[in-house]
Amino acid sequence: MTAQNILLLGGTGFLGSQVAQQLAARGHRLTVPTRHRERARHLLVLPTVEVAEASVHDQASLARLVAGQDAVINLVGILHSRHGLPYGPDFAQAHVALPRNLAAACRAAGVRRLVQVSALNADVNGPSQYLRSKGQGEAELRAAGAALDLTIIRPSVVFGPEDSFLNLFARLQRFAPVMPLGRAGARFQPVYVGDVAQAIVASLARRDAVGQAYCCCGPRVYTLAELVRYAGELSGHRRPVIELPEALARLQAGLLELLPNPPMSVDNLDSMDVDSVCPGGEPLPFGLRPTALEAVAPAYLGNGTQRLANYGRRVKAHR
Ligand SMILES: NC(=O)c1ccc[n+]([C@@H]2O[C@H](COP(=O)([O-])OP(=O)(O)OC[C@H]3O[C@@H](n4cnc5c(N)ncnc54)[C@H](OP(=O)(O)O)[C@@H]3O)[C@@H](O)[C@H]2O)c1
Repeated sequence: MTAQNILLLGGTGFLGSQVAQQLAARGHRLTVPTRHRERARHLLVLPTVEVAEASVHDQASLARLVAGQDAVINLVGILHSRHGLPYGPDFAQAHVALPRNLAAACRAAGVRRLVQVSALNADVNGPSQYLRSKGQGEAELRAAGAALDLTIIRPSVVFGPEDSFLNLFARLQRFAPVMPLGRAGARFQPVYVGDVAQAIVASLARRDAVGQAYCCCGPRVYTLAELVRYAGELSGHRRPVIELPEALARLQAGLLELLPNPPMSVDNLDSMDVDSVCPGGEPLPFGLRPTALEAVAPAYLGNGTQRLANYGRRVKAHR
């Protein structure tokens, strides 16, 4: 299955940028839509990438973007939404309506190959709005049936130089004297951004990946408290972790989600009702070997004052 022309939705983000680099290095021609062209500056240096300022929520724009493509990869995703049941309106737009519209646009344009990046534990009956909306997004695409050659990728939490996970814990510990932490025992199996990108790129070309969903995890399981301590240790500002009881954890998350760029929300806490851990077997598909957190994180968190400052500027710029 050779896909020369690829539409990469969410290609300006943390994971999407890695996918864009890997695909461009293989000579694929990419179209990367963005809401704000300046967020795609780092992609403009890639010779086969065309950045298009467009709204993917507008049906006509989406139809234009899909036309003439050999494949579509959808990485659009958000972590926070206004509230609602089973999920809030922002989750509904980004995680449910977009995949539904994408399936329709692909059908109309005769584009069959679609790789959807979902999340580990995505489930229409999941414990959080995030997971329910991700689950419904998968269902919208599956409903297209034989009209789409669909592959779903479900990563655990993703780490790498520009992650919003370990960098956040490291940054908080620079300023806070202690780390009050809800759900300290929640378990994660963090996966390296380059490995997830490799799984996405590899899946694109494989006929046997059609109709499949693949979980993506790293080699080890950690509790949230262990990850917070590790980030603190690497950044040189390890603070005592104070485990919060559930009521206080919810109060803390409820206050934090009022911030302009919330580091945490009540819905994020709800997502931790289920461990973000791969269900046995190999942590990555296609025989890929997972990169250890300890092999990568010291380079971007270790003595990383400048890197953390860069990360902070990126958050402020809503990147
Ligand atoms: N990072 C993780 O730990 C993790 C774990 C599991 C699953 N995932 C999934 O992997 C995918 C990529 O995650 P990421 O960490 O790379 O995210 P990211 O860095 O926040 O990037 C998100 C991308 O989606 C686009 N986007 C965001 N909100 C949008 C909206 N309302 N309408 C249209 N486009 C929008 C952004 O494009 P512009 O801003 O350029 O328009 C950007 O390219 C997401 O689907 C996410 O749910 C991530």
